[in-house]
Formats: sequence, C-alpha cells, structure tokens
Amino acid sequence: MRQDLRHVLVTGGAGFIGSNFVRYLLERGVPRVTVYDKLTYAGNRANLADIEDHPGFRFIHADICDRADVATAMRGCDAVVNFAAETHVDRSLLDADDFLRTNVVGTHVLLEAAREHGVRHFVHVSTDEVYGDVPVGESREEDPLRPRSPYSASKAGGEMMVLAAVATHGVPATITRGSNTYGPYQYPEKFIPLMITNALEGRPLPIYGDGLQVRDWIHVLDHCSGIETVLLKGKPGEAYNIGGGNPRQNLDVAREILDLLGQPHDLIQHVEDRLGHDRRYALATGKLRALGWRPQVPFEQGLRDTVEWYRERRDWWEPLRDAAFAEYYGRNYGSRAVIKAPDNR
Ligand code: NAD
Ligand code: TYD
Repeated sequence: MRQDLRHVLVTGGAGFIGSNFVRYLLERGVPRVTVYDKLTYAGNRANLADIEDHPGFRFIHADICDRADVATAMRGCDAVVNFAAETHVDRSLLDADDFLRTNVVGTHVLLEAAREHGVRHFVHVSTDEVYGDVPVGESREEDPLRPRSPYSASKAGGEMMVLAAVATHGVPATITRGSNTYGPYQYPEKFIPLMITNALEGRPLPIYGDGLQVRDWIHVLDHCSGIETVLLKGKPGEAYNIGGGNPRQNLDVAREILDLLGQPHDLIQHVEDRLGHDRRYALATGKLRALGWRPQVPFEQGLRDTVEWYRERRDWWEPLRDAAFAEYYGRNYGSRAVIKAPDNR
C-alpha cells in the first residue's frame, strides 16, 4: 500500500463490505484505520471482532449527517472511503426517508468536511444500480444514470453531490460502482445470505416473480481490491465500474445454494414480484482493468466458501434474525402472494 496512506477513515466500516475493507487495509499494512459508523440495524461491531485489538484500529460511533462528529473524525486523515449508506432496495420501497438522509445529505456532509480538512483522497462507494435496468449489453461509466428504485435514486443523488464537490471545490473524489456483492458478514436480508440462512433453517426461499432476473455477482474481496485500486490510482471526478463478470439468474443461484446444503429444490417459493424490479444489471469493467485490477474469485468457489462460512458461523447470524428482523420480514414478505412457478424451467 502506498506510503502516503497512513490514516484512512472508513465510514460505514461496521457493515458488510466496509468491515471486509477495513480488514483488507490492515492486512496490507495501512498503519491507522478509523471506522466511523452509526450502527444502524445493518451495522455490527461483531463484523470487526477479530481486528478490534489491532493497534492501528479505532472505532467512532456516530452519524455521517452530524457535521461536528464528522469534522472531529476527519482531522488528520489522508483518505476517506465512504461505505455508509442505507442499502436494501426492499426497505427503500417501504420507507425511503433514511435513504435520502444518509445517502445524499450524509455524503454532502462528508464532502464538505473533506474539503475543509484537505483530505487527499475521497472514494465514494456507489453501485451499478444507478444505471437502472440494462436489458442488453453492459453499462459503461459514461452511460446516463437512470435509477429506478428509491435506493438507487438516492445513490445517484450522492454521486451528483460528489461530482459537484469535485467541480466546484476541487475535492479529490472518485466514485466506484460495484455490482451485487456476496461473501462473509453480509446481513441476512440480502439475496444470497437470505437464501443460505433460510435453507439452513429449512424455511422457504422467497423468489420474486419468475426468478429469471440477472445480477452480476462479485466476491467481497474482489470488490475490496477494486476500491483499493481506485483509491490508489483513480482520477478525481471519474467513476469506475467494479463488476465480477458472473451474470447469474436468481433462480439458478438459489438452486445452487440448496444443492450445496443438500436441501430440496421445493423449498423455493415464487412470490409476488418486487415493485419496479430491475430485470438485469451488467457492467463493462475495462476502465478499472486498465488500472491493473482483475477479479480473482470464481463465482462457484466463492459461493461454496460463503455457504460454508454461514454454516459455520451461526453464532454470527442467528442473533441478527431477531425480533426486529422478524418484524421487517413480516412487512416485506407477509402480504406477498405465493405465485405459480414459471413452467419454462
Ligand atoms: P451494509 O448495509 O451492510 O452497511 C452499511 C453500513 O453503513 C452499516 O454499518 C450502517 O450502520 C452504516 N450506516 C448507515 N447509515 C449511516 C449513517 N447515517 N452514518 C454512519 N453510518 C451509517 O451495506 P454494504 O452492503 O456493506 O454496502 C456498503 C456500500 O456499498 C453502500 O454504499 C452500498 O450502496 C454499496 N454497494 C453495495 C453492494 C452490495 O451488493 N452489498 C453493491 C454495490 C455497492
Ligand atoms: P438483493 O440482494 O436485494 O440486491 P439488489 O436488489 O440490490 O440487486 O436482490 C438480488 C436479487 O434477488 C434481485 O433480483 C431481487 C432478488 N430477490 C429475491 O428474489 N428474493 C428475495 O427475498 C430478495 C431479498 C431478493
């Protein structure tokens, strides 16, 4: 890791990708890493348990919308990597207020502080969902943003604030647009960990609609190395796609998980579709590859390892499937009708 990266502030570092990224930085010898996290339902100190005692690790429990706390945290940092966000599409369909607050206003607060403190690198972690539905071909960085869910619209809004800060105040900020990510420490509301944990409990696997939607899966470590590459080599004002190059239909992924766990396919239950469900995402990754990045984890191996991790780490995920999770589960799935499986498969 480059010599001038002595102290990195990782906002949202107690979440899924952020906690993996913090571990990744410390393993690569970054001397000081500060995690700044509000600990929402998705944030979890247990994700950082194995690095809490590292001499370079520090944790700040605060909100990125709080100017004073952000200013204090940013003092003395060379770089900021912003993972903090509300991240689940289904929750954004139930109530989008926190999505706008954190993903747009919070990003703005961080950018203002980065400007005041002369931070040298600011990486804003965004998503391929800002491109909207991609029926054919692959999204390139210069394509228009056509978000279709409150989640992706708020992420696109955050990106616009980043570009404005670069253009007006010269904040040295870059944007990453990662594809659907999987791996250890992912909160079990997202597709892959939900399917694994439901299968481990012998519960039905809820598949939205026909299940033939396509997502381009990337292992969390490949997503981390992509963000590292942008941090080290990205050009301010530019966005970089980080895609795994593993397009899969949801139904196939669910079946693969059941096979890995020796569970029957009839646990799959087709349910009423998500509103405005994007059918397909796909990313062109030439721009990041030109900086030397390559994904390393083949999907089948990554999925096998992830299933194994959840099988072994019931101590991690069982406490997360608590009363609050059950309440959310009821709100999101309770009123969804079970539908007939498509007969083309
Ligand atoms: P996550 O939901 O697991 O974690 C989000 C973290 O942000 C949590 O620790 C939460 O406590 C924290 N947070 C939320 N609001 C906050 C606030 N106001 N102040 C401080 N902390 C706050 O999310 P994730 O899956 O790790 O995603 C991280 C980033 O990557 C997000 O910006 C997301 O949009 C982006 N992304 C995720 C994926 C994916 O498939 N998971 C793909 C592409 C991009
Ligand atoms: P998700 O993990 O929510 O990611 P995103 O919507 O941000 O891509 O969902 C991935 C895919 O899986 C998406 O097409 C929606 C689908 N899905 C289901 O079919 N059932 C579910 O219970 C969930 C959570 C997702």
